[in-house]
Amino acid sequence: MSDNKTGNGTSRRAFLRGAAAAGAGALSATAAKAQSPDPLITELQPWAQGFGDGVDATPYGLPIEFEGDVIRRNVEWLTADTVSSINFTPIHALDGTITPQGCAFERHHSGAIELRKEDYRLMLNGLVDTPLVFSYADLERFPRENHVYFCECAANTGMEWAGAQLNGAQFTHGMIHNMEYTGVPLRTLLEEAGLDMAGDLSDKWVYVEGADASSNGRSIPMEKALDDCLIAFKANGEALRKEHGYPVRLVVPGWEGNMWVKWIRRIEVTDGPIESREETSKYTDVLENGIARKWTWAMDAKSVVTSPSPQAPITHGKGPLVITGLAWSGRGAITRVDVSKDGGMTWESARLAKPGEKMALTRFYLDTDWDGSEMMLQSRAMDDTGYIQPTKTQLREVRGLNSIYHNNCIQTWLVRSNGEAENVEVS
Ligand code: MTE
Ligand code: CO
Repeated sequence: MSDNKTGNGTSRRAFLRGAAAAGAGALSATAAKAQSPDPLITELQPWAQGFGDGVDATPYGLPIEFEGDVIRRNVEWLTADTVSSINFTPIHALDGTITPQGCAFERHHSGAIELRKEDYRLMLNGLVDTPLVFSYADLERFPRENHVYFCECAANTGMEWAGAQLNGAQFTHGMIHNMEYTGVPLRTLLEEAGLDMAGDLSDKWVYVEGADASSNGRSIPMEKALDDCLIAFKANGEALRKEHGYPVRLVVPGWEGNMWVKWIRRIEVTDGPIESREETSKYTDVLENGIARKWTWAMDAKSVVTSPSPQAPITHGKGPLVITGLAWSGRGAITRVDVSKDGGMTWESARLAKPGEKMALTRFYLDTDWDGSEMMLQSRAMDDTGYIQPTKTQLREVRGLNSIYHNNCIQTWLVRSNGEAENVEVS
């Protein structure tokens, strides 16, 4: 079709020419100029001279070897052994929001167990009409839902209370993952067992426990159990990995990771909390006045710059720089993230990659022009309840210095002119 016939061809060609020119201009700031001949451009490379792997080489793929450092890591001195321990998601090296299962942090109290679907049973007992036992195949016959949620261990950032401690976003903020879960609402199973939905359920609880030796028992108020808890058996489209609770785990959106019971084997409807070890001596917060706050379930809004950060230094000179990070809130959706380059004195609004989704990670970007000078990088999240992520000083005023869990304070990275970054604290 000729330009004359369409009537707009000329202007379209002109537009394309303009776009090409603009593109070249923008690129010249970042892409290397081809001054000397580049063999990668001018010479035929080995990978273009033969065949690659056949389709039968990798029935189930792993990341290419060049990405071999994008892995979970643990901090050896943190725990006495590896079965009651934790490792951390390499958030400094990931982008987008979905955490691949293969590098999503693990937290076990007695190791990751191996439980076949055929051997799996879920018991629902207590204050219900008909106590039930479900097999895996039974669970697959209830209507399913899909939801993306983050899971954050209450201990995430817990080592940072007393001062800047660990040098990397992976270690300071990597006890978090964000996956798309497929499962059956807990509500559906409670209805199936004849829980009296018309009755007064305000004083009712569920006690949930896992099939592992630790059992990790937790009490959950009935209102939450009926609201959005999920009995999940798939994550990111495939079966849960062993370490995340295969074949079935509980998902408790927005609430501390400890409640997300893996290898879930029993749900008991009770008329009060059990006050188990995991909800009394552990996962409670000692406040400034020395008194422990009984239960902090929802994870407050929090964010962190993932790059640049100590494990992800700037490797180029001044000019265009992408600052990026993650934000989340256990009480709702992220509405705004601000970034500071001067330790919190001035702030710029970051761009959210997508509008925030409830109780899921939100990716933010600040596309900036770096003048090569030192930065004190911070990010500050806001959620749809109007809550603003606090500074470390603000948090310490309420929580004192003896806390371990639920540290959602603003993080600071000192980024030097050579691009290297370090975990620091500003007062
Ligand atoms: N469930 C069982 N059965 N056993 C456990 O040790 N650890 C809990 C929770 N559920 C645990 C468990 C803790 S403290 C957290 S933070 C999350 O699982 C971690 O889930 P993940 O290992 O999938 O990251
Ligand atoms: Co935990």
